[in-house]
Amino acid sequence: MVARVIPVKPFDLVLFGATGDLALRKVLPALCLRFADGQMPRAARVIGAARSDLSAQAFRDMVAQALEEAIPRGTIPPARRRGFIERLDYVMLDARGDTGWSALKAALRDDVIRAFYFSVAPGLFGDLADRLDRWQLVTPETRVVAEKPFGHDRHSARALNAMLSAHFDETQIFRIDHYLGKETVQNLMAVRFANILFEPLWNARFVDHVQITVAETVGIGGRGDYYEKAGAMRDMVQNHLMQLLCLIAMEPPHRFDADAMRDEKLKVIRALDPVAPAQVVRGQYGAGADSAAMAAETGHRDTSTESYVALKVGIANWRWKGTPFYLRTGKRLAARVSEIAVTFRDPPHSIFGENARWRENVLVIRLQPDEGMDLRVMIKEPGPGGMRLKDVALDMSFAEALGDDLHIPDAYERLIMDVIRGTQTLFMRGDEVEAAWAWTDPIIAAWQQAGSRPAVYAPGSDGPDAAAALLRRDGRRWRALR
Ligand code: BG6
Repeated sequence: MVARVIPVKPFDLVLFGATGDLALRKVLPALCLRFADGQMPRAARVIGAARSDLSAQAFRDMVAQALEEAIPRGTIPPARRRGFIERLDYVMLDARGDTGWSALKAALRDDVIRAFYFSVAPGLFGDLADRLDRWQLVTPETRVVAEKPFGHDRHSARALNAMLSAHFDETQIFRIDHYLGKETVQNLMAVRFANILFEPLWNARFVDHVQITVAETVGIGGRGDYYEKAGAMRDMVQNHLMQLLCLIAMEPPHRFDADAMRDEKLKVIRALDPVAPAQVVRGQYGAGADSAAMAAETGHRDTSTESYVALKVGIANWRWKGTPFYLRTGKRLAARVSEIAVTFRDPPHSIFGENARWRENVLVIRLQPDEGMDLRVMIKEPGPGGMRLKDVALDMSFAEALGDDLHIPDAYERLIMDVIRGTQTLFMRGDEVEAAWAWTDPIIAAWQQAGSRPAVYAPGSDGPDAAAALLRRDGRRWRALR
């Protein structure tokens, strides 16, 4: 199935932190793929800005190398790749000084959209915003993109919001949570709001519980310093898992537009029950046969940072009171699985008798890998021998259903094009981010006060035993990761 491509208007995108890992691994390859598809127009340009003293050619060579690694050979014609690289420029720039700013000003065109992409530590957001303003680089057609992490608690997020809103209107600020750009996450909205089937059942009366899993096999790798201060709660739960929870639990917005969506998501966050310590499990991966323990990777032998969290979350509103949402995320687990599983309640009465084998209906939305959905339903086991029941999956893999040449774009491809279009539906509003921190802060504070330490789990496992116990207490089980 060939996707329909609508080119965006010409733009100048200034990528601060252009020599950094995220820029080279995600942002620039995403732009290159959009260029190859004809969505980024030939009149658009990308200006890398960073502290390194590089010529424009040296930057282009660096990007060419990064594209080799990020985009598998044969995905796009070499001429398109070269065409993208020709659209790159570079300015050596100091976020906290005056070096480079006049060169940047000279490089920008007046009659095109401007996007300033902050792919830098949040500590530099304020400096960059100040200087963009002081050098009069902000036009009405300007957007700024703020990469994650957006602060490390509510207080710092509020300070960042204040710094940005001193120079930009909220409609110009694009706070990225790349999970919102994932194709299947957007599909969640289509499943819920473009079908009549699920909505009547989408509440505590019919839904027994929901499980949201984001499991990774990778460890923290070279990000030890960042991760030591963040941990899974700040790195994954406050943003990615929270966004998934919101999309599952929110009321139908009256339109698919930025504020209508964000108003509804915000209501979910504000309705979350505070989480008691007994409802949270923290874990940290230990050493494996061929992998180091997290403590060794961060370089903090005594670290009490978690690489795994599982929690039981309640939502205090009419729709969800009484339906628990179980969230879990962790690194170095048995498999890479991101999915949302909605388990429905049993029918009120079994006409097949007490001994009929029974399994609940489960709707599974698979975010990665093998994007798709399946719905487990009960059927009669074929053949003679009475009425025996069996549960089977109505399974839809998007790749199979939509064709082999289906290209599921990386989240960044979609999100960057939305920035240029000025569409904020898949970006977080300032109040939403603050509310998410306001919910996670007390959980983290309680760990700190108690001086609690995460339980060590074996790499390649399903996480700490206590996470299984969290559900067992409620008479439930986590879905298998493998
Ligand atoms: C990032 C986190 O935001 O998301 C990483 O900082 C994590 O720790 C990553 O590995 C997961 O993203 P994805 O798209 O690979 O599921």
